[in-house]
Amino acid sequence: MGISIVWSDEFATGIDIIDSQHQRLFTYFQDIEQCITAQDIASVEQLCRGLIDYAVSHNSFEESLMEKADYPMFEAHHRVHEAFKKRAHGYLERIDNGAEPLKIAREMRTDIGLWLINHIKHEDQHYTPYVKKSLDKGLVSRMLGKFFK
Ligand SMILES: [Fe+2]
Repeated sequence: MGISIVWSDEFATGIDIIDSQHQRLFTYFQDIEQCITAQDIASVEQLCRGLIDYAVSHNSFEESLMEKADYPMFEAHHRVHEAFKKRAHGYLERIDNGAEPLKIAREMRTDIGLWLINHIKHEDQHYTPYVKKSLDKGLVSRMLGKFFK
């Protein structure tokens, strides 16, 4: 039931550090899915908190790369991340206020899961060439530093 949140090549940006962080997010969803099936309330709450925490840190990390790359859509992407943070923290607040963690987890699977899939496939793909170029430049200057003192 619901959507399946499984990593595949269509999500790859070609930036290794970003792809491995995105994969970690997908793994969170698989673990949450298992808890939903097993009705494991204690673990599901931990995982929901872990997922949001990781996603927010990951988004900040992305922003630091975008900034370094002078990505022209930086402000727009930052606003999208801020809106995500607000929505994501809303789920945790509901758990804090006594909402049933398994119910929240099911909502998060659909809402946050779909958001993530769309975001990785579209907005993140858009910054990729800019960030790649700036990382390449970093590599070139490191190489240059090795050969020219
Ligand atoms: Fe992003």
